[in-house]
Amino acid sequence: MINVVVLGGHGDGLVAAGVIHDMAQAGIAIRLAGYLNDALSVGELIHGAPVLGGTRDWRSLDDSHVFHVCLHKVGQMRQRSELIESFAIPDERLVRLIHPTATIAPDVIIQPGALIASHVTCQPGTKIGRYATVRAGANLGHDTVMEDFAYLGPNATLCGCARLLRGAHAGPNSVVIDGLQVGAFSVLAAGAAVMRNTETDSVWMGNPARCVR
Ligand SMILES: CC(C)(COP(=O)(O)OP(=O)(O)OC[C@H]1O[C@@H](n2cnc3c(N)ncnc32)[C@H](O)[C@@H]1OP(=O)(O)O)[C@@H](O)C(=O)NCCC(=O)NCCS
Repeated sequence: MINVVVLGGHGDGLVAAGVIHDMAQAGIAIRLAGYLNDALSVGELIHGAPVLGGTRDWRSLDDSHVFHVCLHKVGQMRQRSELIESFAIPDERLVRLIHPTATIAPDVIIQPGALIASHVTCQPGTKIGRYATVRAGANLGHDTVMEDFAYLGPNATLCGCARLLRGAHAGPNSVVIDGLQVGAFSVLAAGAAVMRNTETDSVWMGNPARCVR
């Protein structure tokens, strides 16, 4: 049995819990053991699963536990990556969560700690980095890349060969046109249609997307 402890809680933690639930329903020996959460007390419940400690308590859980780290907040992606790296959880204690309805080409590479939600499509040649998140219904075209900590929102699309660099956030229903690069830690607003490369730490909105900061 894979005992998963989620670092986080409401928000993306519940998305992870949903994927774990559906993996178990599909016959995979996996369960949600609980959460590590700095805002709640030990024993409090998040949709029925207990808080087991704070995020830095992962070391106190024995080797029968593996971890999935959420803690995502739009616009705080650099801080998130730095925080997660400070935890120093070894790759062998990180679980990949892949929803049973995801369609993933055989050569797709998915690194430890990544999450692939329901009805995602990953075309051949796709690479998904450590701690990357792909939300429900997102589409990754052929040879696309999500670097470590990148986030692809619900129903968002990376056209062929597009890249989300480290910690970039693509909001729900956003689109990145073929071969373009979204800069590290930059944000694509909900519904943004990206027609040019974006800079590190920039924010883009609209169709065609314009840089707003
Ligand atoms: C990009 C984003 C972070 C901007 O947030 P913000 O800086 O707080 O912006 P505000 O809400 O203050 O809005 C500022 C202006 O931008 C406009 N705006 C906000 N989001 C927009 C969007 N997605 N597309 C077009 N315009 C948008 C607002 O209407 C407002 O316009 P106004 O000044 O004419 O009234 C936010 O709009 C967004 O899209 N977040 C992504 C949500 C997401 O990815 N969630 C997680 C996955 S489900």
